Amino acid sequence: MIGGTQTATDSRFVHHPVMVAEVVEHLSAVPSGVFLDATVGGGGHARALLNARPDLSLVGLDRDPSAVEAASEFLAGRGATICHASFAQLGDVLDSLGVARVVGSLFDFGVSSPQLDKPERGFSYRNDGPLDMRMDCGQRLSAEEVVNDWPTEDVARILRDFGDERYANRIAVAIDAARPIATTTALAAVVRDAIPAPARRKGGHPAKRTFQAIRIAVNDELNQIEPALEAVIDRMESGGRGVVLSYHSGEDRIVKQVLRRRAGLNDEARFRGLPRPPAQAPPAIELVPRGTRRPSSLEMADNPRASSARYRAFCKLGTDQGEGTV
Ligand SMILES: C[S@@+](CC[C@H](N)C(=O)[O-])C[C@H]1O[C@@H](n2cnc3c(N)ncnc32)[C@H](O)[C@@H]1O
Repeated sequence: MIGGTQTATDSRFVHHPVMVAEVVEHLSAVPSGVFLDATVGGGGHARALLNARPDLSLVGLDRDPSAVEAASEFLAGRGATICHASFAQLGDVLDSLGVARVVGSLFDFGVSSPQLDKPERGFSYRNDGPLDMRMDCGQRLSAEEVVNDWPTEDVARILRDFGDERYANRIAVAIDAARPIATTTALAAVVRDAIPAPARRKGGHPAKRTFQAIRIAVNDELNQIEPALEAVIDRMESGGRGVVLSYHSGEDRIVKQVLRRRAGLNDEARFRGLPRPPAQAPPAIELVPRGTRRPSSLEMADNPRASSARYRAFCKLGTDQGEGTV
């Protein structure tokens, strides 16, 4: 669903924006124009950027209505338009607002602290709540259906693919045997009991990977990343800038592939030592840095939820080679 600017009332949305100094340092050099925050959450990054660059207009998207409400309140009077939409719809939203080009973008994937901390949202294996995990409470599929109705092979597949879970089959079989499972803590107990005792003591809470995998499946998180990044790069002015923050390897793998391809770097390994075919298209972006940055140890100690963050950033080049302003 695409909504207009909202009036917010919820001031209890507390989320600490990750790597905010690094994000603002890179993005505050964008040209004047419209900036797209594709995952605005509580508006923490957006407000820090607008503090540094009050001349920018900002369009913020979020698929969670409570985030839309919170960001609208937090960014009131700052030239921000906050819309209830998935970033999969960014082209339609920008078109409906009459925005043809953007000067920069931010994607800060994953869940916000309020989503994790409210037991009734069903994202947390620590707090008792319903099996929900929908970022957009208007969507049909919830964790309840994945846990109780999906074939065991499909549950095992998502645990492997989205959670890197070594005991995917054992956990899927245990879930099947325990059906119907009604709550997050009941699911966490089934997962814990399915994992061999020595493995339970390693790598954090034993249900962490299962909950991550189910959340990614419920919200179809990975399929939306590539088309959205492609769309935003195509709409970006030359000299524009982007940042992407990922929180697990599945997300970062997709981001890395898209950004390296658009930077003309993906073929480097394939053609090492061989004659190269003529380039298909000039690079659209330059990666700065080429790889990832991680939060400082101080930030990780202060905010453990930042620990898994991987930062990638880019600058948009000119459409003709040599025209780039970066
Ligand atoms: C880590 S939080 C963003 C926090 C934000 N940068 C801040 O400073 O408050 C991630 C947000 O992205 C939203 N989100 C996740 N997938 C989305 C999608 N496909 N489209 C739009 N929003 C999405 C979530 O609902 C959540 O509010």
